[in-house]
Amino acid sequence: MNHLIAPSLLSADFGNLQREVENLNNSAADWLHIDVMDGVFVPNISFGFPIISIIKKYAQKPLDIHLMIVEADHYLQRFKDVGATNLTVHYEACVHLHRTMQAIKELGMKAGVAINPHTPVHLLEDIINEIDLVCLMSVNPGYGGQKFIAHTFSKLLALKKLISENGSSAKIEVDGGVDFTNAPTLVKNGADILVAGNTVFASPNPTQTISNLKRI
Ligand code: DX5
Ligand code: ZN
Repeated sequence: MNHLIAPSLLSADFGNLQREVENLNNSAADWLHIDVMDGVFVPNISFGFPIISIIKKYAQKPLDIHLMIVEADHYLQRFKDVGATNLTVHYEACVHLHRTMQAIKELGMKAGVAINPHTPVHLLEDIINEIDLVCLMSVNPGYGGQKFIAHTFSKLLALKKLISENGSSAKIEVDGGVDFTNAPTLVKNGADILVAGNTVFASPNPTQTISNLKRI
């Protein structure tokens, strides 16, 4: 399969961030997934621009930035400046999603939309041709290490259908609780990118775990 693996740095050892990023440089990881939380859209606060700049300084792989924030429009340029390749906003947090997609792309980034577990896939119907990446949340956003929500499997099939019916080139990313029990089905059913935090960083050998996820 040709799926990509995007380890989520939320589960990395922040005390050794440089080493963690360098280890990922030397792994089969395709992208570095970076979770930005504002304590408003989600009940947690993660990190912001200074930390992302440090990650960018050492990273040799594209930064896949997942914004779990309100008012994302105010910060698009700054995420570009700190090195985002992909910038994903939440459907539930963006009032003018079409405008936001245009703005992200005009800045030279790939534009992503994440949808929460309760948000139906069909709500993307009128925007799917403007989206480069759909991030299907398979947990409620805010924390790493949560249990995968099985309903995601049927949402993945619905999203795949929506994308192909509309002739969209959007890629599908699945984020949250991805592990070796669900990853094979996700890949088989059309997930293009698997995000994995806990599965990678809580394993004894993260580099090997990434290779194993890549080989699924
Ligand atoms: C959750 C984040 C995820 C998280 C994934 O809000 O969007 O990217 O870091 O971590 P795991 O794989 O541990 O569920
Ligand atoms: Zn994420």
